[in-house]
Amino acid sequence: MQKEIRGAEILGIGSCTPPKVLTNADIEKIVDTTDEWIFTRTGISQRHVVEPGIAVSDLSIEASKQALEMAGIPAEKIGLIVCATITGDMPFPSTACLIQAGIGASNAAAFDLQAGCAGWVYALATAAQFVENGTYDYVLAVGGDALSTIADWTDRATCVLFGDGAGAVVLGPSKQGEGVIGIHLGADGTGGHLLKVDAGGSRMPTTEDTVKERLHFIKMDGREVYKFAVRMMGEASLKVLADCGLTPDDIDVFVPHQANVRIIDASVHRLKLPPEKVFINVQNYGNTSAASIPLALHEAYNQGKIKKDDLVVVVGFGAGLTWASAVIKWTLPTK
Ligand code: ACO
Repeated sequence: MQKEIRGAEILGIGSCTPPKVLTNADIEKIVDTTDEWIFTRTGISQRHVVEPGIAVSDLSIEASKQALEMAGIPAEKIGLIVCATITGDMPFPSTACLIQAGIGASNAAAFDLQAGCAGWVYALATAAQFVENGTYDYVLAVGGDALSTIADWTDRATCVLFGDGAGAVVLGPSKQGEGVIGIHLGADGTGGHLLKVDAGGSRMPTTEDTVKERLHFIKMDGREVYKFAVRMMGEASLKVLADCGLTPDDIDVFVPHQANVRIIDASVHRLKLPPEKVFINVQNYGNTSAASIPLALHEAYNQGKIKKDDLVVVVGFGAGLTWASAVIKWTLPTK
């Protein structure tokens, strides 16, 4: 069957963070750090963290239900669920399948992908292809993570950075030139060692020793990741804009991955954007990994900062190493 190429637009968006909040003052009681150090180095004041028994699928199901409700699309009409996560509920089944069951999307295919904190933009890109080529009409692109569950709470250099959450969008067919109009994805596996969890996979299966040696927790070379992030956030934004025949002047709202306010400031400086075009909420959530960009998009939209017809640029970087950017011509009605 001949498939016609069409656009893919966001029809609904949702997000969810767990209720428990850990402030910097709370973290001062766990590791040798200060509110002042965390805030000046990262811009983070607090983060939401899951309590035992709550997993990424729980947050993702709530975010997905909100997105479906806004879209006015019944779950049975979803053809595919793509979930970006590095902290799925369990090694298998996929978290996307758990979401499928949780929302009752009985006609949907479902799979996970991982690209660290760039994961949701990878999921958006994947979802958009399936809508654009006519394979599915409605696709759910979810980003969910609970990095608090794999953070080493004895390592002050990493545990202060992360928070938990999920965000989801329903994509559906649009006119060309509306919705997701540009995507740029990239990876550099030679930098994989800079940000990783060593144990629990096929190279280093779980043993008593791996647990004792704390090898199931995040290890990160913060300075190298920082340098990479500052470089790629700017470059990936410029690349996707150029692919669309646009420049930074065309951006109405810039929604970067919320890892560290200094990384955001450096990319904003590179793009020469005025601060009023940049959305930042890292102070309230920390780095929520694959959830960070959809969570920020949802909040920016709810606050009326993203309006119908705005040109929105999203950009992320993460473990892999990976990076990803997208240009979205926003079509949801202004709040
Ligand atoms: N409290 C107090 N002191 C601390 C803390 C802390 N929480 N953490 C580190 N320090 C100390 C260090 O020990 C070091 O002390 P020393 O000079 O005596 O050795 C000093 O502070 C400076 O440490 P740096 O690592 O140089 O601090 P920097 O200014 O680089 O900030 C940070 C560290 C915030 C981690 C920064 O490097 C960063 O943001 N990196 C990028 C992290 C990131 O975004 N990761 C993305 C993960 S994405 C994913 O896919 C999971």
